[in-house]
Amino acid sequence: MSSSLDRKQQAWSALFSEPVDQLVQRYTASVGFDKRLAPFDIMGSLAHARMLAAQGIINAQDLADIERGMLQIEQELAAGAFAWKLELEDVHLNIEARLTQLVGDAGKRLHTGRSRNDQVATDIRLWLRATIDSIQDRLGALREALLDVAEAHADTIMPGFTHLQVAQPVTFGHHLLAYVEMFGRDAERMTDCRRRTNRLPLGAAALAGTSYPLDRDMVARALGFDSICANSLDAVSDRDFAIEFCAAASLIMVHISRLSEELILWMSQAYGFITLPDRYCTGSSIMPQKKNPDVPELARGKTGRVVGHLQALLMLMKGQPLAYNKDNQEDKEPLFDTADTILDTLTLFADMVRGIEVNAPAMEVAARKGHATATDLADYLVKKGLAFRDAHEVVARAVRACAESGRDLSALSLDALREMHPAVGPDVCDVLTLRGSADSRQVIGGTAPSQVRARIAALRQC
Ligand code: ARG
Repeated sequence: MSSSLDRKQQAWSALFSEPVDQLVQRYTASVGFDKRLAPFDIMGSLAHARMLAAQGIINAQDLADIERGMLQIEQELAAGAFAWKLELEDVHLNIEARLTQLVGDAGKRLHTGRSRNDQVATDIRLWLRATIDSIQDRLGALREALLDVAEAHADTIMPGFTHLQVAQPVTFGHHLLAYVEMFGRDAERMTDCRRRTNRLPLGAAALAGTSYPLDRDMVARALGFDSICANSLDAVSDRDFAIEFCAAASLIMVHISRLSEELILWMSQAYGFITLPDRYCTGSSIMPQKKNPDVPELARGKTGRVVGHLQALLMLMKGQPLAYNKDNQEDKEPLFDTADTILDTLTLFADMVRGIEVNAPAMEVAARKGHATATDLADYLVKKGLAFRDAHEVVARAVRACAESGRDLSALSLDALREMHPAVGPDVCDVLTLRGSADSRQVIGGTAPSQVRARIAALRQC
């Protein structure tokens, strides 16, 4: 069994008769990971202290001492000179202890009308709000990058797939815009999550509120919260905002993973549609010819970990009775790792997307392989008076004949097409080309280059 440590340092030690077990101390401490909340912890403490002074709960000298002490702590943190202590458990008690060391009794008064339960809930919300704002910036940069590449390739023909079989020609610009839409909805989800995150728990104290005449509205205003949590039990205990964040983050990663899968396929020799910049690839230690798309592969892999964090937080919450339980300390590592992974991934992708080199001829050749204009021929026959089902059958027979002779439908001569059906006229050539097919899809949201450009223009306005 591990040895024990002196309890004297702990804020709550007076009640206890034996020192805390060393392994228990390591097991229960969070300072190793929650120290990154320090700037938000200080921000929250200063707002709390200013309100305590405004309400006459502490005096002006206490406030001045607290402000002076916090300034020094901020400097120590910035210089990497702050001495974190495991035996002080977490970021909150470490900062409070140092404050008291620096300014004496005023430091001991800071915690009046407050508990670590509403303190940590406040810190996490402040941190998450700032994190969401950074994620929004980077999502915006990724969407910009995708828009620029989409604009450059509004006319570039590629095969569109269903079931990973060539289906109909699309433009590369249109394909990329699909991701712009996905990341746009991701941004909406983050905005929505921010609204529910941006509410103030402070004032809930341990669980029941406090008998001090706190001005919660003043604290909320000082910290930029939109409103205050209306039930003290709920304020200290629920982490649903963090779960929402992880759900929204999981969807971002799922979208990143789909894009990654495509980039990996497109870069393979079998497709040869694109190359990624060398700075995003690595080589093989054995095969000299290899250039591997490591960044999208890792992003696809990291999706599992972010989705896993969502599961972790859901399970963390599900069995907890009201109000605060120490279980909630386990919210931090999944949250931090989710944020770090998302921020790095989005930053990398915005740059990588701009560096995509497109092999347009290879895309076009691939689009010629799967009778991609078969639907166009059927539609043509419908316009000549056939019922769609009849037209479908005529074209299916034509495709079969082409497959037997090893040709693509788009390569059939006018005479051969006429043999399929007498309604075919010389104007059929316009619809059977890949470009004719793409150009004809003028419906809003369709792949026609003019539609793609219109959507790009609209997205640039937002
Ligand atoms: N480190 C704790 C956490 O992250 C702070 C709150 C501790 N509260 C308590 N009653 N022990 O949740």
